[in-house]
This record gives sequence, structure tokens and C-alpha cells, in this order.
Amino acid sequence: MLNIIVLVSGGGTNLQAIIDAVETGKISNTRISGVISNNKNAYALVRAQKHGIENLCISPKDFETRAQFNEKFLEAVDGMKPDLIVLAGFLVVIPPKMTERYRNRIINIHPSLIPSFCGTGYYGLKVHEAALLRGVKVVGATVHFVDEGTDTGPIILQKAVEVEPGDTPEILQRRVMEQAEWKILPRAIDLIANGKVKVEDGKTVIL
Ligand code: GAR
Repeated sequence: MLNIIVLVSGGGTNLQAIIDAVETGKISNTRISGVISNNKNAYALVRAQKHGIENLCISPKDFETRAQFNEKFLEAVDGMKPDLIVLAGFLVVIPPKMTERYRNRIINIHPSLIPSFCGTGYYGLKVHEAALLRGVKVVGATVHFVDEGTDTGPIILQKAVEVEPGDTPEILQRRVMEQAEWKILPRAIDLIANGKVKVEDGKTVIL
């Protein structure tokens, strides 16, 4: 059984997709052992409570230095004994010590087809604003392992989504979530839980 924890900052629709997939068996061999948010008002925490999942908030704002936050954050994560850490709309930079300790055991969902519209400054709605501004015709989402860079780790799954006439960033964001994110994030967890993802030379192989 794969013990996963999910790290969130906002609404938590990706967390909900994971919870639903575990409950319906679309993700097998997996238990959600905890949810951590950096934002005490995140609706994602309510979603965790509703499903009886242990949850807590730990925010950089409550610490004098980033180093102090990083230490307590790592302690909180370690305390939940995860086999896999899932970043589902988590907007805090992962401390290098955590990346090192959980090498190829942290995954992230990003709302673009990496390497487009990713890296520092590209998160949430900003990604979709940039895609519309550039006039691309195809967007999408990516699940990847987390390494020391921003959105640079080995890619696990990607799914493309069409841009349509009249799209606003909000409409496009919703379509990317519905057609890509809520599908590929649960799918990636299921693959990992069933031993089907290997990392070789910085790339993944799906078995
Ligand atoms: C999602 O679109 C996710 O891909 C994005 O934040 C949103 C969170 O929504 N993540 C990033 O931009 C990370 N760089 P949710 O809280 O409803 O799951």
C-alpha cells in the first residue's frame, strides 16, 4: 500500500480528484495519509476534513526565517511517513533537503505542457494568461517528479487540451483541469502505486 500525502494551497480540486479516485478504486493500492496546506483558509483543508483525512496547516508566515519554516515543514512531512508526496496546487518552494530526502518520491501537477509556460512566476491563472497572450492553439497539463529546479524534473504524464475562440484565462484553466489535470494526476499516482514508473537518465519509463 502506497502512503501518499497531498500538499495544497488553494481550492483543492486536484486533491478532490485524488480522493474520488482512491474511493472509487481508480487509484488502487493507495492510502491518503495526510494533507498539508500553507494556507489556513485553503478550501482543500475542508475537503480533507470531509473525508476524515488528517490535515494540518504550516505557513512560512508563522516563522521568523525561511530556514525555521523549512525545518518544521520537513518535520511535519516526515511525521506522516509518506511513500509519495503529491504537490496539488502547492505554491511554496520545496526545501532542497526535502527534494534530496524524497528523490523521485515527490510529484507535481503543472497546468501547462512543460517546457512551455513553466518555471518561476508561472503558476495558477498566470500560466493560462501567458498562453492566451502568446496565442498558442494547444495547451495542457504535466505531472512530473520534483527536483531542485522549478518544473524541471522528469516528466511522467502529459495531456493536451485545445484552446477555443473566446477563451478567457478562467475558462481555459477550468478546461485544462477537467480534461487534463483531474485525469493525469490520479493516473500518475496509480501508476506509481503499482510500480509502473521508473526513472532512468533523468527521464521516466512507463512500464
Ligand atoms: C491547478 O491548476 C494546478 O495545476 C496549479 O494550481 C491549481 C490548483 O488548483 N499548480 C501550479 O500552478 C503549480 N505551478 P486546485 O487547488 O483546485 O487543485
